[in-house]
Amino acid sequence: MAVIIDGKAVADRVRSEVAMEVQQLKSRGITPGLAVIIVGDDPASRVYVDNKKKDCARVGIYSEEFALPADTDQEQLIALVTSLNNRSDINGILCQLPLPSHIDENAVISAISPAKDVDAFHPSNVGNIMIGKYSFLPCTPAGVMELIHSAGISVEGKRCVVIGRSNIVGKPMAMLLLHENGTVTICHSRTKDLKEICAEADILIAAVGRLKFVTADMVKPGAVVIDVGINRDENGKLCGDVDFYKVEKVAGYITPVPGGVGPMTRAMLLKNTLTAAKLQNALLME
Ligand code: GUN
Repeated sequence: MAVIIDGKAVADRVRSEVAMEVQQLKSRGITPGLAVIIVGDDPASRVYVDNKKKDCARVGIYSEEFALPADTDQEQLIALVTSLNNRSDINGILCQLPLPSHIDENAVISAISPAKDVDAFHPSNVGNIMIGKYSFLPCTPAGVMELIHSAGISVEGKRCVVIGRSNIVGKPMAMLLLHENGTVTICHSRTKDLKEICAEADILIAAVGRLKFVTADMVKPGAVVIDVGINRDENGKLCGDVDFYKVEKVAGYITPVPGGVGPMTRAMLLKNTLTAAKLQNALLME
């Protein structure tokens, strides 16, 4: 039976470290601030945004929500981003994705000041990650790396397989594993022999967005299985991309859903907001 990596416990530790540093900043007159923009009324996005605001309050970060109607045009949204770029009390700007289809997400992301881009989605931050010189890492891949480290697992020399090639998870995830000297394969919907490739992985990261996509026959005995998926099963229960109860019998380590990667993504946003506040107040070197 696999060891279950407890994302809630690791996230609690990260959050309390952030809370302590926030208190130290506050004693110097600096309150980290996060602006959260939501456009339209997607119910999942609403839950994520509410959670982000709650998380900020728990660690003493100031947060401000900007809820815009679904028919907001791109220029209005970019004008808001620009005004937030210019506010000294706002250190981080997060625009919840997806945006309505009439808005070009890349144009909005590019309008965010790279120094305030706590998602690390701006092309300049993405480029910095590619060359291994970064201030921010995208929250989900950074959270996955924390989970791997917390379990005492070394990536060095391991075969790592990432299923999924999104800009938010798959691509940066592969890069972070590569930075730690993993031998990395990215699989996607057009990959041939997916099962065979996954079955060779020492570290398997599932970021597909499909319920029970990773089955026990795709997992090498003893492998580390990290489940980034957030899906609902036929009863509305939250489930990942991994067929958990079968895979846990084969894997060496596994993350549950809920209680695995999700809490870490939330915690890493707080850490990035703290980092942004420190950088903007010249308390950290870039
Ligand atoms: N939508 C789903 N995940 C994310 C995320 O990490 N950041 C933002 N801004 N939007 C998201």
